[in-house]
Amino acid sequence: MSDNNSEFTLRAQGITKTYSAKSGAINVLEDIDLELSKGDFVTISGPSGCGKSTLLMVLGTLQEPDSGTLKYGDITPYGLSPSGRAEFRSKNIGFVFQDFNLVPYLDVRENIMCPGIVNPSADLEPRSSELLEMLGLTDRSNHYPDQLSSGEKQRAALARALLLRPSIIFADEPTGNLDQSNGRVVLDCLANYAEDGATVIMATHDSAALSSGNKHVQFNEGKGITVKSE
Ligand SMILES: Nc1ncnc2c1ncn2[C@@H]1O[C@H](COP(=O)(O)OP(=O)(O)OP(=O)(O)O)[C@@H](O)[C@H]1O
Ligand SMILES: [Mg+2]
Repeated sequence: MSDNNSEFTLRAQGITKTYSAKSGAINVLEDIDLELSKGDFVTISGPSGCGKSTLLMVLGTLQEPDSGTLKYGDITPYGLSPSGRAEFRSKNIGFVFQDFNLVPYLDVRENIMCPGIVNPSADLEPRSSELLEMLGLTDRSNHYPDQLSSGEKQRAALARALLLRPSIIFADEPTGNLDQSNGRVVLDCLANYAEDGATVIMATHDSAALSSGNKHVQFNEGKGITVKSE
């Protein structure tokens, strides 16, 4: 599964997710079916609060659904132990969080190299340099997160997600804080990554980002989804 050359598919069936809040239950995902293949660049769109981040976290094995099944090839991540699931995630999945989740006491390069703590390899230093360069962060590599603009944090979060060349990337509004030119850099980077054989799933409100994908997931009023392919 960690090999980008191996066939790779994600299948979600009948996924539901409800949050309980003081004001009552919030049904966010209802009976979601989705099948993704290697090379797919998928956009997820819908109004604020419709469930985009929740869907990414459920598919990204970070938040267990109330019902339904999720399969990556023959693997059922929510059937694994928490440590087994964490290992699966660290080998196969890169996640760009909507609020970045950078570690405040690590500088940009150290943040980018974090996934290497559990998956050490000799090429991580040059790989981090390559990503810093690609995302225009070389001259910020020794800055701490509180010394960065929002767009720089966003690009650092993307670089961290790409470090280990995971076979699937989840990106939650990865262009939300970027100007047009940096937004283009991020979208091209994700599109190239999918073209090279990974699967990229991106929640977005951004019209340029929406036109980058080859498969589009749109949330409906009733919390279900419609999937369109190009
Ligand atoms: N932990 C939680 N407990 C209770 N309700 C939650 C929780 N997390 C999210 N929600 C609610 O679930 C709904 C979906 O949230 P989610 O973050 O998935 O939306 P979103 O589509 O990503 O929104 P945005 O475009 O603003 O990022 C929202 O109404 C939100 O208030
Ligand atoms: Mg969100």
